[in-house]
Amino acid sequence: MADARDAHDILQAAARIAADHLGGLLERPVWQPVPEPLRAALAGQALPERGLDQELLLSTLERDVLAYPMGNGHPAFFGWVNAAPHPAGIAGALLAAAMNPSSAGGDHGDVYLERAAVRWIAELIGFPHEPGAGLLTSGASMATIVAVGAARRRALAAAGWDVRERGLAGAPRLVAYGSEEVHSCVRKAIELLGIGSANLHAVPVDADGHLEIAALRRAIAADRAEGAVPFLVAGSAGTVSTGAVDALDELADVCADEGLWFHVDGAYGGLGVLDPAIAYRYAGMERADSVALDPHKWLQVPAGVGCVLVRDRVQLRETFSYVPAYLRDDAAGELGWFSEYGIEQTRPPRSLPVWAAIAARGREGVAADITACTSTARLLGEMVERDPDFELAAPVETSITAFRYAPADLTPRQADELTRAAAAAVQASGRAFVTDSVFRGRPVLRACLINPAAGAEDVGILLDAVREAVTARRREY
Ligand SMILES: Cc1ncc(COP(=O)(O)O)c(C=O)c1O
Repeated sequence: MADARDAHDILQAAARIAADHLGGLLERPVWQPVPEPLRAALAGQALPERGLDQELLLSTLERDVLAYPMGNGHPAFFGWVNAAPHPAGIAGALLAAAMNPSSAGGDHGDVYLERAAVRWIAELIGFPHEPGAGLLTSGASMATIVAVGAARRRALAAAGWDVRERGLAGAPRLVAYGSEEVHSCVRKAIELLGIGSANLHAVPVDADGHLEIAALRRAIAADRAEGAVPFLVAGSAGTVSTGAVDALDELADVCADEGLWFHVDGAYGGLGVLDPAIAYRYAGMERADSVALDPHKWLQVPAGVGCVLVRDRVQLRETFSYVPAYLRDDAAGELGWFSEYGIEQTRPPRSLPVWAAIAARGREGVAADITACTSTARLLGEMVERDPDFELAAPVETSITAFRYAPADLTPRQADELTRAAAAAVQASGRAFVTDSVFRGRPVLRACLINPAAGAEDVGILLDAVREAVTARRREY
């Protein structure tokens, strides 16, 4: 059994390695593949019979694992939606692990801090909040399952059907709506909750990736005419391919008119509302019944923290509360335990890194970081537009710049092939990291700017790396 002195030594050494890792990011390639022998060695290593010496243990992690990062952390990393962790958030995560309570509930510091962290997130995005109306989750996928689960219960209860007791067999057919660009986690939630993806209506988008409101209204009317029960609309506050923000106010109107649950997926883009230049796009987010938002994305909290906010906390408790005898806590107070508001029983203490990542910057600092990202994304958009070899695939609404290689002397098919191939080539170059997607049927490179440390130089490096990648490939034509 480790004593306190061992803990001191290993944690100090680990903190030093973590700081060195962050300090050395710029000296290494943004990303490099894990060498084949190391892949096999890491995955296939034998279970040690006896414990490793502390130094060997840490040096193995440093040499064989930390030396091969995903790349997020580096300012020239623009892949997916993976954050550079904020140092205060890393510190919070370390302290949370040291404390290690279950935040199902109980009387310990983290449960109170989580109340503040959730409220702060709501305040940052201007969402109304009452205590208990939200909780931290493992990510936005889980937040979405929680929100859609609550919407499902409410809709079926209104139709006289207790889904918790009776399940779905024989229940009215529920239908949900999201745009063609809505994140796959909505589909997963709909599938998992037994509604079936055939009952997730993919509403067409306009040329810039926004859900078409008239098409939504038509789809709802058609589904009602068939006897189905429309119950939820999922709007996007920042789509994953291009960062488009749906017309949230209009979606809220539709939901109010039709009596539907209005869910906003702000997992990636919700915090964009903090940039005064684009805040207007988010009008109506505050009218949602639920919002999914990921602290582990634009808030730069180390991975593993999402958040669901709801307008009415009763909806969560009515959906999830079950208190077995062994968990009765007469001292829990009016709100009860977090485990009554979501799926997890044992819950990690997620609030410390969230609280720390916000507290270290304050509202102003967080807003400045968000604004730095949106400005750099717009700058990249301008650079793309100025360059005859590139074209923007969609307007830069938040902090994703989606673009294509499209010089005039290539056919659209050739340009698409090169665009698709460029992402892997840029990644392999180690100079920058970008990923690709498909928008309105055509490949795009999507640079996601959620690291405020990224600036003009970094997006310049990205465009150079793309240019180099496609030039090498063009010679093959
Ligand atoms: C718009 C959007 N929604 C939902 C998710 C899912 O979030 P998570 O990966 O935290 O489950 C993502 C992840 O990239 C996203 O970008």
